[in-house]
Amino acid sequence: MRKRTLGRTNLSVSELGLGTWGLSGEAYGAVPEAERGQLIERARMLGITLFETADCYAKGKMEEKLGELLGNDAEAFIVTKWGTDRSNNVARKRFDADYLRQACDQSLERLKRTKITVGLLHNPSVKTIERREATETLAALKAEGKLEAWGVSAGDDQVARSAIEAGAEVISLGYNVFRQKPLDASLADIKQNETGVLAHSVLNYGQLCGVWSPYRVFRAPDHRAERWTPDELKRRIRQLDAVRPLVSGEITSLRSAVLRFVLNNEHVGCTILGPRNGMQLDQLVREAGQAPPYLPEPKLVALKNRLEDLGIAT
Ligand SMILES: NC(=O)c1ccc[n+]([C@@H]2O[C@H](COP(=O)([O-])OP(=O)(O)OC[C@H]3O[C@@H](n4cnc5c(N)ncnc54)[C@H](OP(=O)(O)O)[C@@H]3O)[C@@H](O)[C@H]2O)c1
Repeated sequence: MRKRTLGRTNLSVSELGLGTWGLSGEAYGAVPEAERGQLIERARMLGITLFETADCYAKGKMEEKLGELLGNDAEAFIVTKWGTDRSNNVARKRFDADYLRQACDQSLERLKRTKITVGLLHNPSVKTIERREATETLAALKAEGKLEAWGVSAGDDQVARSAIEAGAEVISLGYNVFRQKPLDASLADIKQNETGVLAHSVLNYGQLCGVWSPYRVFRAPDHRAERWTPDELKRRIRQLDAVRPLVSGEITSLRSAVLRFVLNNEHVGCTILGPRNGMQLDQLVREAGQAPPYLPEPKLVALKNRLEDLGIAT
């Protein structure tokens, strides 16, 4: 597994990381308890050293699982996120200093660590960033030795740029073939500040693998039941025609092509995968490619042109 330095943090992390939202069983539907542990162990065996989670995933249970399996592993980097209070029936966003400090202490306990590798604010608004209370609290937690680095999981490029301006060392962004703008529009700031980038949702929740029928129906609690209308899903699936020509030679599947698209971006420090079982993890690692260039430049240029010709806003 190749490594990349996460921006200016000096952290050298595996270029593929394991995200744990899907594994929590809350995002896409149930996952057997045994699968969680096996998948985390398998990721470690495959050379993955970055594990991404949030205190709200399964109300802390994913942090507990990571703590149980990786608590003593000095080679394993843990990224967690705070800002979603699920202590009552209705989840609410909270970014005040008292809440964040308490959340950090609880995460340290669950993760069985004295220091967390990266602590992120979990989808704050631009206003929350501009208020500075939340960002200054994470900077203080770093100064107190509870974090190695801090940052923001940003829902769009405005939040990302505001976070970078506030001093975030790491940002986490959704990034894939159909969702390029948040990263592209933040790139000048990322370069100037040497900000570490975590890219997530690289398969667009599985849609980019190209194996779904256009009539596929998702049912709650799978979050995809709410994500696309039937027409929107059909449109998205049709748009995959712009990506299909990438599949040739050693790139044997759409899954491989779209994953390589993300890996090919040198500004992405870690590509966060979201497999829900060992088979999916193995496929992703196997098909990711070994070294740059993950996609040849002419193929990338042709992809850009096809997306533009078809009027696909990315
Ligand atoms: N705000 C944030 O910071 C944030 C937001 C989103 C995600 N994340 C992190 O990033 C991780 C991944 O993101 P994501 O879940 O949003 O999206 P994703 O990685 O684009 O999609 C995950 C889904 O893709 C499908 N999949 C995975 N491996 C596959 C394979 N080999 N073949 C075919 N399908 C495959 C699975 O769908 P099926 O279940 O249908 O098999 C899985 O549930 C999450 O677990 C989370 O930890 C962070």
